[in-house]
Amino acid sequence: MNALVLATRELPEQSLSTLKPEFEVRVLGYSPAELDLVAEVREADALITLVSDPVTRRVLEAGKKLKIVANYAVGVDNIDRAAATARGIVVTHTPNALTDATADLTMALLLALTRRILEGDRLVRMGGFSGWSPDLLLGSDLKGKTLGIVGPGRIGKAVARRARAFGMTVIAFGRSPRDEKDSDDPPRLSFEELLRRSDAVSLHLPLTEETRGLFNLETFSKMKRGSFLVNTARGPLVEESALLRALDSGQLAGAGLDVYEYEPMISPGLLDNDRVVLMPHAGSATLETRREMARMVVEDVRRVLSGEKPLHPAALENAPRERARAAR
Ligand code: DGY
Repeated sequence: MNALVLATRELPEQSLSTLKPEFEVRVLGYSPAELDLVAEVREADALITLVSDPVTRRVLEAGKKLKIVANYAVGVDNIDRAAATARGIVVTHTPNALTDATADLTMALLLALTRRILEGDRLVRMGGFSGWSPDLLLGSDLKGKTLGIVGPGRIGKAVARRARAFGMTVIAFGRSPRDEKDSDDPPRLSFEELLRRSDAVSLHLPLTEETRGLFNLETFSKMKRGSFLVNTARGPLVEESALLRALDSGQLAGAGLDVYEYEPMISPGLLDNDRVVLMPHAGSATLETRREMARMVVEDVRRVLSGEKPLHPAALENAPRERARAAR
């Protein structure tokens, strides 16, 4: 009998069907809750998941035959990696594939905020454009401003490159020291210094126990008054109630969000707020990017089920507490 590959959703351009000659492929076709996955995973040798699928310890325990969980994403915070490691289940992801698409969206959100694109669009559609005017929709330049990158990894550096092309000064806060040989790598500052100096702060951190809620009332109070926040990383990095207060008080001039604390639920205050630009977790949503992500997922599933090493394992070394748990 062929090994069973269970995917929660179809991937672009029927890429899953390329596995069919060698494996049985079953697609759920809906967003499973934890208990759905527990029931469905029992016979699976490989599981292909999305960022929104909860691959918990219970799911991994139920998947007695599982050899690989291949996440169709770079972030793997939806997977209990410690539990996977403890059971010898490989976790793979799609690094690099979505770096440029996500960096592009970050810049799009920043420009939408500083140049008031959504307000302009609404004004024109509602018939409010009566001709050129000296003070209509005045925004602010990116040139000459400072962008603070929190998490200068692959995506953070790609944003830094773009921001410099717009004439911005880029600074960063992150665990890893600056790579002196990499001219894209921004200089490191302390977290507080970055908040104090940045006209816009862009988040590019993974979601871990350490980073959850990093942007809270205290953090916002340390940011430059009238600055912007962009989050294309993970929603729970930001406490949305605190964000709304910072926007209401004018401490923040605006926020561009692609991800949400209680995703896919959106805090009602955000929906009513004209100073936020909202996207539906679409950082990687270009055809080319999603095609490449699908190719990487399929390739790693094929390799692991054929007894080879995966090309894109998600390293546990990025998650110190998870690693400690796995070792117990
Ligand atoms: C990721 O890859 O982690 C994104 O959030 C979804 O593409």
